[in-house]
Amino acid sequence: MADIFDRLIKNYGPIGQHRERAHGYFAFPKLEGEIGNRMRFRGKEMIVWSLNNYLGLANHPEVRKSDADGATEYGLALPMGARMMSGNSNFHEQLEAELASFVEKEDSILMNYGYQGIMSTIDAICGRHDVVVYDAESHACIIDGLRLHPGHRYVFKHNDVADCAKQLERATALIEKQNSGGILVITEGVFGMAGDQGKLKEIVALKANYDFRLLVDDAHGFGTLGKTGAGAGEEQGCQNEIDLYFSTFAKSMASIGAFLAGPKTIIDYIRYNIRSQIFAKSLPMPYVIGNLKRLELLRNHLELKDKLWSNALKLQKGLKERGFDIGKTDSVVTPIYMKGGVEEATAMVMDLRENYHIFCSIVVYPVIPKGHIIYRLIPTAAHTDIDIEETLKAFSETKEKLEAGAYQVTMIPDMADAR
Ligand SMILES: Cc1ncc(COP(=O)(O)O)c(C=O)c1O
Repeated sequence: MADIFDRLIKNYGPIGQHRERAHGYFAFPKLEGEIGNRMRFRGKEMIVWSLNNYLGLANHPEVRKSDADGATEYGLALPMGARMMSGNSNFHEQLEAELASFVEKEDSILMNYGYQGIMSTIDAICGRHDVVVYDAESHACIIDGLRLHPGHRYVFKHNDVADCAKQLERATALIEKQNSGGILVITEGVFGMAGDQGKLKEIVALKANYDFRLLVDDAHGFGTLGKTGAGAGEEQGCQNEIDLYFSTFAKSMASIGAFLAGPKTIIDYIRYNIRSQIFAKSLPMPYVIGNLKRLELLRNHLELKDKLWSNALKLQKGLKERGFDIGKTDSVVTPIYMKGGVEEATAMVMDLRENYHIFCSIVVYPVIPKGHIIYRLIPTAAHTDIDIEETLKAFSETKEKLEAGAYQVTMIPDMADAR
């Protein structure tokens, strides 16, 4: 018999295999200091482009005060138990009501984490005869939710509405054959890697020809898109036709937790049947108090969203003018596509950090095809024009070096923390 532990340590996985050279630098870096446009990394000040603190709320004085007041008044323990048993409170219900009204749905349910929340939503609402039709570039939490789904699933090519219709055709035929089940379409408001908005309006239009319910994960759209910041559905004018609207609090709200909003009857069904919430302790009170404050700021300070967009557009325009390929983003997420191997990408990241003091995330093989690199920049309302100028200059210079072969190393630079 094989020993499971033996197998694990023979192969640490695609990123784990590099841990001895990468840990603490390329993976598991420690950003220190107040969350903002500039933070410290290994003792040096960096311009940080890796945090989804879109509106700059993480360090807003009112947010910090309400987080502290919530902790002083209630502590992390309250309320004890799962919502259904003993962990409910007026504040939890107030936050649900305010979120629902903000995203123009009848009701909403809080979740402790978005990842679990989406997985468990799929599990709660889909039976074995139901068919899920979903976008090929869906976030890992959607993919993992599908692992819990005992029925069929059909994937459509990323943001390809014609292919979505084709998969709906297949799903409809299967359901007719089974004589049972329904269809759930899942997509995202904004795809977090490439920054392109999900084609929600076009997918909604498919309802004229196919019967389905639509679940949208709007983690990156909530707070950043739409006239009031209510997200990609509002931006595209189709919020009413999104049956279930989801967002995490981990991005624009700079917090922890998530919510799912929709018709009262269905949210109530989910409330009584979602395993990740029924069998887990409810969100601690300071989080709920802190999230109420964040929501208030998000709704009432649209100048933060305007600043975010002004920064994002300056950054994106500057990159395009300098000949960078930023793909199809129509959100604030700003990818930069380049060519190179994993080792080259890490050498360039090291140069960016050590010599230009720019901290951004990279995406490499096997997440994307071999030979491609994506640098992913997340602008926030907290960035300044100087941050943008310095970053553009740094990318222009490092791109030239990359193209001249200056980063061609045979191994990932050894930058690991002593462990
Ligand atoms: C699209 C999307 N959905 C869900 C999640 C998970 O949310 P959480 O961090 O609240 O678990 C993320 C990442 O945070 C995300 O980017």
